[in-house]
Amino acid sequence: MRQASLRRRFRQATAESVGSEQMPSIAPSPEIVLSRMLCYHGQMHDDARRLIAQHAQTARLLGVDFLPLSAMPSVLIQGTPSVAPDQPDQDAPQVSSEPRAESRVHRALSGGALGDQSPMLLSVSPIASAELRTSYEHLNNPQARLDGLGAKYETEAPHQHFNMQFTRIVFGEGDPQADLMFIGEAPGEQEDLTGRPFVGRAGQLLEKMIQAMGFSRETVYITNVLKTRPPGNATPTSQEAALCEPYLMEQIRIIEPKVIVTLGLPATQLLLKVSSPMRSMRGRWHTLPTKVIADGIPQVEIMPTYHPAYLLRSYTQENRRKVWSDLMQVMDKLGVASRK
Ligand code: URA
Repeated sequence: MRQASLRRRFRQATAESVGSEQMPSIAPSPEIVLSRMLCYHGQMHDDARRLIAQHAQTARLLGVDFLPLSAMPSVLIQGTPSVAPDQPDQDAPQVSSEPRAESRVHRALSGGALGDQSPMLLSVSPIASAELRTSYEHLNNPQARLDGLGAKYETEAPHQHFNMQFTRIVFGEGDPQADLMFIGEAPGEQEDLTGRPFVGRAGQLLEKMIQAMGFSRETVYITNVLKTRPPGNATPTSQEAALCEPYLMEQIRIIEPKVIVTLGLPATQLLLKVSSPMRSMRGRWHTLPTKVIADGIPQVEIMPTYHPAYLLRSYTQENRRKVWSDLMQVMDKLGVASRK
């Protein structure tokens, strides 16, 4: 019954997208069809929405101009995700582990027409840094270079491979020559609406932390791993993070901060190329892997700490002490006195 209703909705959405009552053999784009279908099926689990978007994009990259019903992920046909929602991690509850996120994608795709080709999503390669640089490298003003990079991001739109539901791109803001850079996970609701990073509740807490350290929002640089809000605030998968990584690395290269504070697990794992839990990484100094440095990214000291959203959820004295002690190490490194 549920399956029949989904099939009907898919047909209806497809027909509308081409102005026909008949199921066409070729639709203009799988994204248009699927986004219309998602509107019809507003109750669908957020994970399912993301999987469908990824599936559509993968199909498009494979040169598929229409999506037969048999090619739809089993997750959609059944109406429930094929795996249980991510379990909270006691130490960093806002994130899922990377292997779990990847298996979610692979499992969903393996039920579709792509069959054994499911890892095709991985064939969407991140853009090469050298290619990115050509468009702004000649500019010697860091803000102009950041603007050029931002424009390049908008043109390339790496998020189109996994996210079609955001409102605004949130590229980052602050001093283009800041000594201190904060990297979060992905924009939330308020950030999505305003186009500015960390302006919601977590952002207000981050701002207090920044001020307590003797800085202001304007004197540091704030950005995220993903530049668009994931549907349902889902944790970025490693594939999504990898597609956006070159832009983040270029932001680091242009700004040349002395210290980066990674907020939470996705930013920490992406920069350090490790899969350790937050509790074993926070509160200690790290550096970028040699391979990253070899690509022209400056050496920078990295201090991982808990994400302010996690702090808000677990606002214990112990957690606050831990974060403050992490930030005090940063202040020592930068030679600034606390305003606290
Ligand atoms: N959480 C993030 O990781 N980034 C934001 O910009 C807002 C909330």
